[in-house]
Amino acid sequence: MAGLDPKQAGRVRLKDKVCVVTGAGQGIGRAVARRLGDEGGKIVVAERVDESATRTTEELTKSGITAIKALADVSTYSGAQSLMKTALDAFGRVDVLVNNVGGTIWIQPFHEFTEEQIHLELQRSLHTTLFCCHAVLPIMIKQQGGSIVNVGSQSPRGLYRLPYATSKGGVIAMTKVLAMEYGRYNIRVNCVSPGGTAVNDMVTTRLTIKPGEVAKAPESEQYKGYREEMYNDIRNQQALKRSGTPDEQAAAIAFLASDDASFITGDVINCSGGQG
Ligand SMILES: NC(=O)c1ccc[n+]([C@@H]2O[C@H](COP(=O)([O-])OP(=O)(O)OC[C@H]3O[C@@H](n4cnc5c(N)ncnc54)[C@H](O)[C@@H]3O)[C@@H](O)[C@H]2O)c1
Repeated sequence: MAGLDPKQAGRVRLKDKVCVVTGAGQGIGRAVARRLGDEGGKIVVAERVDESATRTTEELTKSGITAIKALADVSTYSGAQSLMKTALDAFGRVDVLVNNVGGTIWIQPFHEFTEEQIHLELQRSLHTTLFCCHAVLPIMIKQQGGSIVNVGSQSPRGLYRLPYATSKGGVIAMTKVLAMEYGRYNIRVNCVSPGGTAVNDMVTTRLTIKPGEVAKAPESEQYKGYREEMYNDIRNQQALKRSGTPDEQAAAIAFLASDDASFITGDVINCSGGQG
């Protein structure tokens, strides 16, 4: 479904490129780590959950891909800085950064969010990309090159996840402004905005606030109704009328990460079955 197997197609577009993939323990991030590794990249599996980070790293290593595990909470400034230091200490450079960490936590009308919930959503889906970009730029400036792929979403025109949507709107703004500011250093910055994508390999759920700390979603019929309305709204907007796969997202991300996209920057690919 995700197009040609890169190995069968003889494609190694990321040969020896050092690729940091955040949130690579499961879901889209795990598929991205695999895809970039299959295309010759050396992978830094950046994740805050040890169990899933170990799973991905072992999987890659067993397939002959050079990979290291970097445990970090990239919603903090220091976590993002320490991640890039780990990558530099291991490989001496960072060619590609995929800012994949993110994801809505609660689904409800904006006035029902508490102050704490709003902060947690922004931490997960905005601060992570903001801090990782800030941490990687000095490295890429020194190298005079690099490719950053941010992960957006279709939520900026969706229902019931306003703090998440605001974060992803910010991610798209970041993509465009960084592309303008850092093109002079041969740094490209792009974004893939997924539509609903089936993630079947979860070690943690979207409600996991911190490793080991899972938030409660309201149990009410009304809350379930919000979710249903949101999912129906997504499906109604789509041309292809199905969920995407993590491999399909990874294929779009690998393209933007690679030199195949050498004249593309500040752009957004909607990988959403025609939703965006
Ligand atoms: N799955 C979808 O339907 C969908 C749709 C649109 C956009 N997206 C976007 O795609 C990206 C990946 O989504 P997914 O569904 O694969 O997510 P996921 O929740 O399945 O995986 C995210 C991973 O990030 C890790 N993580 C979370 N916070 C972290 C932190 N602070 N530091 C380090 N690691 C952290 C988690 O442990 C988890 O392994 C997100 O940015 C999400 O917003 C997903």
